[in-house]
Amino acid sequence: MNRAFDLSGRTAVISGASSAMGDAIAAEYAQAGARLVLGDLAEAGMEATRDRLLAEGHEVVCRRTDVTMRAEVDALIELALSRFGQLDVMANIAGVIHDSPVIDTDEADLDRVLAVNLKGVYFGCQAAVRAMQARQSGSIVNMSSSGGFTALPMLSCYSMSKAGVMALTRVLAAEVAASGIRVNAVAPGYVEGGMTTRHARKPDGHLDEEKMERTRTRVRERIPLHTLGTPDDIAHAFLFLASDASRYMTGQVLHTNGGTYMP
Ligand SMILES: NC(=O)c1ccc[n+]([C@@H]2O[C@H](COP(=O)([O-])OP(=O)(O)OC[C@H]3O[C@@H](n4cnc5c(N)ncnc54)[C@H](O)[C@@H]3O)[C@@H](O)[C@H]2O)c1
Repeated sequence: MNRAFDLSGRTAVISGASSAMGDAIAAEYAQAGARLVLGDLAEAGMEATRDRLLAEGHEVVCRRTDVTMRAEVDALIELALSRFGQLDVMANIAGVIHDSPVIDTDEADLDRVLAVNLKGVYFGCQAAVRAMQARQSGSIVNMSSSGGFTALPMLSCYSMSKAGVMALTRVLAAEVAASGIRVNAVAPGYVEGGMTTRHARKPDGHLDEEKMERTRTRVRERIPLHTLGTPDDIAHAFLFLASDASRYMTGQVLHTNGGTYMP
C-alpha cells in the first residue's frame, strides 16, 4: 500500500457501522492499519462486523449508539479515548431515508430524518473535534449524498439533511483548520444495498430479486458510467479522506456517483 493511505497507529470511530457501507469502511480502515471503534443502533450487524475483523487480527471494539442522543455519541468517542488513547478519524455514516411528497410529510418523519442525518452528524463532529483538538490533528469524514445536490422528488427530508451535512462540513472545516483538523464529505450516488433496496422488499422483509433487478437496470441506464456503486467504491473514498493522501484537502466533497452529478 502507498504509505500516504496508511492508518497504522491511528484510531477511527465509525457511526452507522451496521450498514453495508459502514461495514466496508470499517474493513478498509482496518486493512489500512487503524484500530476501530464502531457505533450503531443495530447491534447484531455491528457485532458481526466487529467479530469478523477481530478474527482477522484487527483491534476493534463496539458500542450500541443512538446518534440522535448527544450523550451516546460522546460516550462512543470516550470509548475510543479510554481504549486506544486518541482519536484520529471520525466517520459519520449513520443515516435514514423517508419517501413522501413535501405536502404530505408528517412532522414526526421530518424530525426523525433531520435528527439522525443532520443532528447525529453534528454531535459526531462536536465530540470528535473536542477529542482531536488535544493533539491538534485529525480527519472527520461525513456521509452526504448526491441527493443533497440534485432534485429528487419524494426525498425532501433526506435531501435537506444531506445538503445540511455539506454546509456543516464546510463551516466546521473553516473553524478547525487552524487546529490541524480536516473535515470533508463523501456524496455517493446510487449504491447497491442498504436503503436503496427499500422499494424491493417483500412484506416479510426479504428482497424481491426480480423487482430489484428491474430497479438495477433502470438506474444503470441513468448513470453515465453505466454501473452501480458498491460499498467498496465508497469505502475507498472514505480511506482517501481519512488518510494523509488527502492532507491538503478540507471542506470538500467527493462525488462518488458514476458521473450522475458533475459539479
Ligand atoms: N445506499 C445509497 O445509495 C446511499 C447513497 C448516498 C448516501 N448514502 C448514505 O450512506 C449511509 C449508509 O446508508 P445505507 O444505504 O448503507 O443504508 P442502511 O440503512 O443500511 O444504513 C444506515 C445505518 O444507520 C444506522 N442508524 C440509523 N439510525 C441510527 C441512529 N439513530 N443511531 C445510530 N445508527 C443509526 C442503521 O442501523 C444502519 O446501520 C447513510 O447515511 C445514507 O444516507 C447511501
